[in-house]
Amino acid sequence: WTRATSDAPPPTRRRTQDRTRPPEQTAPEPFANTPDTDPSLAPNRAWMAAITARIDGSDAGRKEADAALVRTREDLDAILSRARYAAPEWAQRGAHERAGILRAAADRLEARRGELIEVMASETGKTVDQADPEVSEAVDFARWYALCAEELALTDGAEPVPRRLTVVTPPWNFPVAIPAGGVLAALATGSSVVMKPAPQAVRCGALVVAALHDAGVPRDVLHVVDADEATVGSALVADPRVDQVILTGAFDTARAFRSLRPELRLFAETSGKNAIVVTPSADLDLAVRDIVASAFGHAGQKCSACSLVVAVGSVARSRRFRDQLADAVRSLPVGYPSDPRVRMGPLVEPAHGKLRDALTTLEPGESWLVRPRALDDSGRLYSPGVREGVRPGSPMHTTEYFGPVLGIMAADDLPHAIALQNGTAYGLTAGLHTLDSGELAQWLAGVQAGNLYVNRSITGAIVRRQPFGGWKRSSVGPGTKAGGAEYLVALTGWRTTTAAA
Ligand code: SER
Repeated sequence: WTRATSDAPPPTRRRTQDRTRPPEQTAPEPFANTPDTDPSLAPNRAWMAAITARIDGSDAGRKEADAALVRTREDLDAILSRARYAAPEWAQRGAHERAGILRAAADRLEARRGELIEVMASETGKTVDQADPEVSEAVDFARWYALCAEELALTDGAEPVPRRLTVVTPPWNFPVAIPAGGVLAALATGSSVVMKPAPQAVRCGALVVAALHDAGVPRDVLHVVDADEATVGSALVADPRVDQVILTGAFDTARAFRSLRPELRLFAETSGKNAIVVTPSADLDLAVRDIVASAFGHAGQKCSACSLVVAVGSVARSRRFRDQLADAVRSLPVGYPSDPRVRMGPLVEPAHGKLRDALTTLEPGESWLVRPRALDDSGRLYSPGVREGVRPGSPMHTTEYFGPVLGIMAADDLPHAIALQNGTAYGLTAGLHTLDSGELAQWLAGVQAGNLYVNRSITGAIVRRQPFGGWKRSSVGPGTKAGGAEYLVALTGWRTTTAAA
C-alpha cells in the first residue's frame, strides 16, 4: 500500500485515548469525534513521513492565498456588500440544507488532511504530530455544528433569525482548526462570513475556505481576505454592515476592536497564563509527562499552554521531581518540522521583546533548572527553558509569553497553590495533578478558569466534549464556548412573535 498524494486520507485510523466515548454512553449517537492519524500503524507512519518530506519548499495553498489578496479599501467594501447581499438566500436554505453542506465540508477537510498538515508546517513551523489533530478538530466542528444547527431549528417558542454578516479573525497558532471553527459556526446559523486569516497563516486559511467552497458553500457567502491589519480594523470591524465578529487573539486586540466600535457584538477568546498544580499525592511520572506536553507542544505557542507549575509542599522540595522534569525537557528533540525526529518546532517569528527577555533574563530569586539556548541564528529556534523560584506577582507569574519557557512556583499547601494559580488576570486553562479526591474537590471549588483538566495535559480541547473558552481576561464578550451547542445560540438572533387574538 502506498499513499500517492496528500489528498488521500490514511486508510486506517484508531481513536486516541482522548477521543473514546464515555463508558456510560451506549446508545448510538449522530456525532462522534474524528480520530487523529494513529502513528502506531505503519501505513500511517509512511504517510506522515511523505508529508514531512514535502514541508521544505512547500507552496501548497499559494494559488488560493493569492486569490484572497485584497489590495484596496474599495475591494474590501465590495466584498462586504456581496457577502451581505448573499446572506438572505443562504439563510432561506434552512438548517438542514446548510447542515448537509457542512457535512460535505467535513469530508472535504478530511480528504485534504495531508495538504492541510503540510501547509501548517510550512507556514507556521508546526510539527506534523501537532498539526494532525487540528484537522480532526476542524472536521469535528463541521459535523458538530451541522447537528447543532439542525437541533436549533426545532426550538419551540422562539424563531432563530440568522445575523447577516459575521467577520472571523483567527490567530496563526491554530491556523486550520480555529478559522474553520469560527467560519463553520457562523455558516451553520445562516450568516455570510468574511474571514481574515492571520498574516503568518494566509495559505492555511485560504485552503480551509477552498475546501468549504468545494463542499458547496456559495462563494458570495464565504470570503477569505488577506489585507493589512489597519484595513481590517477600520474597514471590517468598524463597518456597520458587519453584525458580529469572532476573534481569537490577544486581549489587547479585543479591547482595540471594542474601542473602534463600542456596540460591536464580539465573541473573543483571548489570552491565557495557565498553571498546573502538582500536589504531593500526584503520580509524578504522569505529571512530568503532562507538564512537558502542555508547556512545549508547538513551542508553547498556544493560549492553552502550561507556562507555570505550582509545586505543593514536598513536591517543591523533591529532587526526584526536579530531575525528572529537567531530564524530560532536555531530551525533547528540537528543530524544524521537516526533520521527522523533531517534537518541538520553531517559533513562528524571531523571539523579541518580552519573550526574548523570558528566554534570556532571570528575575530576582529565580534560577534556571533548564537554561534555554538559541540553536541557530534565526531567532526562531530555542531549546525549551525552565525557571525555578518564580515569585508571586513577578513577570513570569503573570505575563503571557507564548513561547517555550516554563516557570516553577512553590506553594505551602493546596489553598496557597490555588491562590497562585488564580493570581493572574487570565482564566483560560488550569490543571491539577492529584490522586486525592478531597484535594480534587477543594481545587474544583476554588479554581477560576474556563477549562479545567485533571491528571492530564491542559491543551487540546475536543469539540463537544470540552467546549473551549475562558474566564476573566481570557474572554471578551458573552464568554460562550467554541465547540459547544450554545455557541450557535449566541451567534443567532432570536425572535418571538405574539399576536393579539
Ligand atoms: N483549543 C485549543 C486547545 O485546547 C486552544 O485554542 O489547546
